[in-house]
Amino acid sequence: MKKYLVVGNPIEHSLSPKLHNHWIKENNIDAIYEKKQINESDIKKIIEEIKNEKINGINVTVPFKKTIIPFLNELTPLAREAQSVNTIFKKDNKVIGDNTDIGGFELGLKSINYKVENKKIFILGAGGVTSSIIIALSRLGATKIIISNRTKKKAENLKKIYSKLEIIDWGEVPDFDMIINTTSLGLKKDDEIKLEYSNLKPNKLFYDVIYNPIQTNFLVKAKKFGNQIENGKMMFIYQAQLAFKIWHNVMPVVNKKLLD
Ligand code: ATR
Repeated sequence: MKKYLVVGNPIEHSLSPKLHNHWIKENNIDAIYEKKQINESDIKKIIEEIKNEKINGINVTVPFKKTIIPFLNELTPLAREAQSVNTIFKKDNKVIGDNTDIGGFELGLKSINYKVENKKIFILGAGGVTSSIIIALSRLGATKIIISNRTKKKAENLKKIYSKLEIIDWGEVPDFDMIINTTSLGLKKDDEIKLEYSNLKPNKLFYDVIYNPIQTNFLVKAKKFGNQIENGKMMFIYQAQLAFKIWHNVMPVVNKKLLD
């Protein structure tokens, strides 16, 4: 039986095992997918276990998407570009890091028929998943990508990935068509992102990478003021779908009821 894992810290709330085990069963694959909380000192051993095929593949989540890179033999072009790895597999005796967050974000937007082309995008946050979102937006033809992060230095570092990135101070709000929350603000019930919603013209897309809670305060307010909203659930499902394809060479079926 093949073995797959999602590793991170914390990991207890990860829904990846539920999703992957559902598809494993649906496709009659002899495999199991588990979650494991790790520390940075455990990474070396886990990669060795992939090398000797005790583990057949892993997903990597917060906070290891970047720190795992030096332990790998090779990165795919997308993982290298984003400097972020969420899916690992072994091929030709090499442990390879890939990135399906980029494709997951793109497919998520496609599923709601949102066209990024010629749009101005405003990103909040510069954490682990932000580089993947910037690459996806640039591939999809965004006219302008503006970013704001509490710690400005981290936003500046993202210019290495996308040199046209515009940086503004935390708390400032530019003109935009779509706003994306990539911060962890919203995970807790009382978390608020300071925005003068009433000053913004309606009919923008408010996107939150968070999907648990289903609607963060950021999305609840955006809706109240007449905007379209979307949480990170479909991005999460599609990144998993792409990882499943890499490991099992089967594209599992996605429907909106998954994870309900
Ligand atoms: P990491 O920083 O390890 O990649 P993450 O969860 O992927 O972790 O990212 C956290 C993001 O949420 C960061 O952009 C962080 O801003 P800082 O870079 O300034 O830390 C942002 N964030 C978390 N708590 C915040 C808060 N209370 N106010 C504003 N931004 C916050």
